[in-house]
Amino acid sequence: MKEQKVPFLNASDFGEDFTWGVSTAAYQIEGGHDADGKGRSIWDKFTDTPKMIHNEDNANVSCDFYHKYKEDILLMKSMNIDNYRFSLSWTRILPYGIGTINAAGLDFYNKVIDFCLENEITPWVTLYHWDLPQILENKGGWTNRQIVTWFSEFTQVCANAFGDRVKHWMVLNEPMVFTGAGYFLGVHAPGKKGLKNFLPAAHHAVLCQSEGGRILRKLVPGAQIGTTFSCSQITPYRQNKRDKKTAIMVDALLNRLFIEPALGLGYPTIEAPILKKLQPYIQPTDMEDCKFDFDFIGIQNYTREKVKYSLLVPYIRAKIVKASKRNVEITLMDWEVYPPSIYNMIKKFGEYSQIKKIIITENGAAFKDTIDGEIITDLDRLNFLKRYLSEVLKAKQEGLNIHGYFVWTFTDNFEWAEGYFPRFGLVHIDFKTLKRTIKESGKWFSQFLSHKS
Ligand code: BGC
Repeated sequence: MKEQKVPFLNASDFGEDFTWGVSTAAYQIEGGHDADGKGRSIWDKFTDTPKMIHNEDNANVSCDFYHKYKEDILLMKSMNIDNYRFSLSWTRILPYGIGTINAAGLDFYNKVIDFCLENEITPWVTLYHWDLPQILENKGGWTNRQIVTWFSEFTQVCANAFGDRVKHWMVLNEPMVFTGAGYFLGVHAPGKKGLKNFLPAAHHAVLCQSEGGRILRKLVPGAQIGTTFSCSQITPYRQNKRDKKTAIMVDALLNRLFIEPALGLGYPTIEAPILKKLQPYIQPTDMEDCKFDFDFIGIQNYTREKVKYSLLVPYIRAKIVKASKRNVEITLMDWEVYPPSIYNMIKKFGEYSQIKKIIITENGAAFKDTIDGEIITDLDRLNFLKRYLSEVLKAKQEGLNIHGYFVWTFTDNFEWAEGYFPRFGLVHIDFKTLKRTIKESGKWFSQFLSHKS
């Protein structure tokens, strides 16, 4: 990417009560995959499966946050970051998914939470960021309706253990991605495919999303409870009737499927008729039970997608046209750099009158870094952040319902099926020595945050 003209940004323009932070996920950073009684998750198994992950990488060690959490939290503090979103590894806490609690697992998160608080960093905890216990997957995982009971137990344990100090919670991270990539396309753990897996997994995720919210509400006084959704602006590839209709259908699947039942709007079956096939999994009181009055909704935006009608694609008759085939600016993920997408998503979610508050819980980009000794230059990432942030500011200045922004991500980490190849961090990790070095983008963010008021 060429150097872009980027507007000058001032954190104080977002207002004093705007929340700034960074986001991470347990499996992507912790390592310690079998440390101190941790059980095996679907990602531990999936990364052991040949040909599923770029370069056959795994996150057995990753950034070793499990042992280096103090160093990372201190680094965050030195960078003026005062909100930290991270997730809990279910099998560190409940090695068998349910039942026996692993005291060492609780201890680890207690230490992380306490160290954040000691350093005046507010912990924002995501209960589930994709690392289901393998033992539960052996019983069908998200396709088994019993997941609602399993997930409720996990939620209760976490709420009781950490709720005295953690007041910001997110129930699920991107249900569309973990059910779509994990249970429809088979490219993420647990590698299942097809509608027969996807549909029950999706409905059960919707049930867990609200049930998790209710449990947190009951057990954690004063909690701010949210959940997070991936979202991308969906545009028709060609301006013809069929592509336009396809875009509306894909938008319903990718952007509306998980939020609308929570808001009491049901599934968007008119625009995405395929969702009528959810019916056999829906029990009489389910659509009531799917509702929950979240305090905030986290939206996570990286790109936009262009879609076209395609007779060749079964069920949905839609195809995403890859960004690399569209002659547009792209990141290492082959995602289009399209800053207005974040503004348009804030606007779109802002139109739901039931949503109390929107927070960008992830935004960021994978680009190649240039390493010269201690200087790590990542101008593309820096420009990406500034350009997307200026769209967030535009939304804020227009009075849209936007209250915070978290960068994905703090340090480089394990990027799921792409392994360690795409780096998203504000902080570089040398995966051989585990040395942390703040990149130019991180220095900029830190400087930016120093002018919040
Ligand atoms: C996920 C992260 C992931 C990031 C970049 C989001 O979909 O929540 O876990 O690393 O996007 O792909």
